[in-house]
Amino acid sequence: MFVGCYRHLLTAISPLMVSAALLVSHPSFADQKLPNVTILATGGTIAGTGSTSTTTVGYTAAKVGVEALIEAVPELKNVANVKGEQVFQIASENMNNDYWLTLAKRVNTLLAQDDVDGIVITHGTDTIEETAYFLDLVVKSKKPVVIVGAMRPSTAISADGPINLYNAVILAGSPEAVGKGVLVCLNDEINAGREVTKTNTATLNTFRTPELGLLGYMQDNRPHFYRQSTRRNTADTEFDIMGLDSLPRVDIVYGYANMDPTALNAFVAAGAKGIIHAGVGDGSLASAVKPSLIEARKKGIVIVRSSRVGNGIVARNGEANDDELDFVVSDTLNPQKARILLMLALTRTTDTKTIQTMFYNY
Ligand code: SIN
Repeated sequence: MFVGCYRHLLTAISPLMVSAALLVSHPSFADQKLPNVTILATGGTIAGTGSTSTTTVGYTAAKVGVEALIEAVPELKNVANVKGEQVFQIASENMNNDYWLTLAKRVNTLLAQDDVDGIVITHGTDTIEETAYFLDLVVKSKKPVVIVGAMRPSTAISADGPINLYNAVILAGSPEAVGKGVLVCLNDEINAGREVTKTNTATLNTFRTPELGLLGYMQDNRPHFYRQSTRRNTADTEFDIMGLDSLPRVDIVYGYANMDPTALNAFVAAGAKGIIHAGVGDGSLASAVKPSLIEARKKGIVIVRSSRVGNGIVARNGEANDDELDFVVSDTLNPQKARILLMLALTRTTDTKTIQTMFYNY
């Protein structure tokens, strides 16, 4: 694991020298009690292995266990008292509501303990943004929760997992991260769970918060924050999943030229309680689909107009008369994040005015 050049280089120049350098440049690590950080491992490329050191596509995700991930970064012990738990071991395209509930319950249980100062979650990058937003809405603590992944498997030359994990542990143990909501930290950058999205299939700088911007950087073994999300999160939300063992079904209908209602009707038939319409432009509704959305709403299904564009506010009563249709708009949430908020909203209410207020608050 993590057997690329990075690891060999560190071994060659002696871990002791690296540790000593950290302590010299940051007396805080030497002077202060180290924070207690628990690493919850869930799989992904950060725990992936390839057949050769140059295999950066076509590798197998979710192979390496949490203890091996921790052992591969001995520098962690200089910055935190680290414990690891393997919550599950999956490629994140297999993430689902059940895994989210399991993970969120474990996070809440751990953060309620006095001997846990922060949590790092290792995760596949494909759905990291969804898990981050889910936890942002259901974690009941202001203590830091940092989600981290990697774009290269642990066996690759210049694997990004070790430095990403190292930065994530520092961030999760830092007072600066308290109360900032669930954070996503890769490639030396800190983004908000609500806002971040994966923007490139393969590059290391794939995680972006387009237009609104990142929160800060990891540099010189510490976080540097420049802004934070204005939306309610973690201990300030009304959502409580601790007593839940399932979430309401919400599906996403994607907008495109020549669209018809086949997918929408199938989701309705499958028992969807909510539909996210990922419309073109400002969440526009095709004439071929609008009557089926109206029918779905009449059956009590909550319809949220989002956009496939990726940036900007979906304007209420803009491209559709939402007041008349009794639809909700997603504000700036992309469709996959709007799905998460609608699922949680439906655990509290089916009232569309209340749900609309949630979309403006979270
Ligand atoms: C995954 O999401 O589990 C695979 C891809 C990755 O982690 O980069």
